[in-house]
Amino acid sequence: MTGAHLLMDRIYRHQRHVYDASRKYYLLGRDRLLDGLQPPWNGRILEIGCGTARNLTAVARAHPDARLFGIDISSEMLATARRKIERHGLADRVRLARGDATRFDPAVLFGVPSFSRIFFSYTLSMIPDWEKALQQAALWLQPGGELHLVDFGGQEGLPRWFRHGLGRWLQLFHVTPRDGLRSTLPRVSAHLALVSFERPYRGYAQYAICRRLPSGR
Ligand SMILES: C[S@@+](CC[C@H](N)C(=O)[O-])C[C@H]1O[C@@H](n2cnc3c(N)ncnc32)[C@H](O)[C@@H]1O
Repeated sequence: MTGAHLLMDRIYRHQRHVYDASRKYYLLGRDRLLDGLQPPWNGRILEIGCGTARNLTAVARAHPDARLFGIDISSEMLATARRKIERHGLADRVRLARGDATRFDPAVLFGVPSFSRIFFSYTLSMIPDWEKALQQAALWLQPGGELHLVDFGGQEGLPRWFRHGLGRWLQLFHVTPRDGLRSTLPRVSAHLALVSFERPYRGYAQYAICRRLPSGR
């Protein structure tokens, strides 16, 4: 067990019970990311830091042919996610495993080599070594596959009082907006190209899509 695992379990032990109801008001842009995934037919889709499986259940409904996978470092979150997957009758299509975004092997966790889509939704801001997490994701993308990300932005277009209030609130949950995301993405892997980058909601969020080039690993 790592310190990160224990910290996330501590944060989410009780929060997971109110997570979906409370986060819909401030994890903005998640549905936009899900709509934009547009996976190929029968594609494998991985969410890194899947939390309660709120996103995975939505993707499973939208793409009945897709095969879905989720990893999370918190056993507490995964317990809630497993219950939700069962409740929605998706246990045969959505597979979950405990894993650390900065070092995981999908062949070991799921017996599959790679994914056509990988996404992070409000997870990079909770991972201290977030650049390593991006490198890992790039490693497990199929050539032509896409990495989609949404997370907190720098809130540059919002009033100062709002920025400070939100910043203090996020610190309570060990969340740090990744200000360097835009400049970091093109450096993550020689095989990854930045396709689009936006700062929607006046900079409240940042939203990016990268594509893995059709070259070797
Ligand atoms: C803010 S929640 C987002 C959950 C979900 N992606 C969503 O959009 O609702 C962040 C999640 O990332 C997980 N997480 C944090 N650090 C992680 C790591 N190193 N590896 C995998 N998951 C991690 C947490 O346990 C938590 O479930």
